[in-house]
Amino acid sequence: MRVLITGGAGFLGSHLAEHLLKKGAEVVLIDNFATGRKENLANLAGAKFVEGSVANKALIDECFDKLKPTHVIHSAAAFKDPNNWKEDIDTNVLGTAHVVQASKRHDVNRLVYFQTALAYGRAKSPIKVETDYAPLLSYSISKAGGEFYTAMSGLPWVSLRLANVYGPRLFTGPQPIFVKKLRAGEACTIVNTRRDFLDLRDFMILMDQVLEVGAPTGAYNVASGRDITIPQLFDMIVKGLGLKEGEYKPPTVQEPAGEDLNSLLLDPSLTTEKFGWTPKISVADGTAALVEWYKANGVGETFTHFVNKKS
Ligand SMILES: NC(=O)c1ccc[n+]([C@@H]2O[C@H](COP(=O)([O-])OP(=O)(O)OC[C@H]3O[C@@H](n4cnc5c(N)ncnc54)[C@H](O)[C@@H]3O)[C@@H](O)[C@H]2O)c1
Repeated sequence: MRVLITGGAGFLGSHLAEHLLKKGAEVVLIDNFATGRKENLANLAGAKFVEGSVANKALIDECFDKLKPTHVIHSAAAFKDPNNWKEDIDTNVLGTAHVVQASKRHDVNRLVYFQTALAYGRAKSPIKVETDYAPLLSYSISKAGGEFYTAMSGLPWVSLRLANVYGPRLFTGPQPIFVKKLRAGEACTIVNTRRDFLDLRDFMILMDQVLEVGAPTGAYNVASGRDITIPQLFDMIVKGLGLKEGEYKPPTVQEPAGEDLNSLLLDPSLTTEKFGWTPKISVADGTAALVEWYKANGVGETFTHFVNKKS
């Protein structure tokens, strides 16, 4: 198995690289460190790392021609500056087109894309995979474009439409932001929304199946299928940090504004049916483990997908 992973210095990309190296795969990673980190490559000495952008067609073609991948995991995505539409289009649309066309040239066995559930926009939860797209952000608009190119590849492609996967090395979204602020003694702003969280360990079990040659193709919702409120998530993190009332600044709770969504709950029933996959780890247990990881490793710079969100 020769696997090319874009976004290999990021959260999902680096975990997949580690997992596949352990299974004996030859792995090449490409990343421009937009949101990825050098520290994420610490356990990836066995992989070849190429610093650069998926928007650079010559670089992508060279990486493909050298490795001749059997499998491609396209995990690179731009989202850190919601007002930088050009960067989103360059990475998420043009970069994806480069990866898809190079994958076609090499007739890869599996082409895996990670889609954001934000592409469904304000669809009513629980959202089925057949639901039409109505993205509201530059990130989700451009990611929708990338998925359409992937689907046009004629290859055995899979798009996993992710709600919120969490685990070690997650630096985007409410968990790292709450941990960072609580540990710094700062007050958090909690947006009163509902979200569906999936533990990375459950995600990796699905990925093993998705990468099997001959496994089902197409688009699948990937989520726990159960949601919680962000105030509930905040309470779990406070508990994980061992903080009692009075030991942290009281948070401000506000209602979602702008393009933020009240609820994002996916229906993963087709994924369960086709892959025989059911997530096992509860969000309470998974969040407790995640907080332990942040305690041991710190948080650092954090990111959010939303323009007006304060946390
Ligand atoms: N983690 C989730 O819950 C989640 C949810 C929805 C979608 N996704 C998708 O999964 C994929 C991985 O996300 P993640 O959570 O690991 O985020 P991440 O930010 O940790 O990983 C993305 C990686 O892509 C890299 N990158 C950005 N622009 C690039 C470019 N032009 N060329 C090369 N590399 C570039 C970043 O530096 C980063 O390392 C993304 O495609 C994202 O849209 C993730």
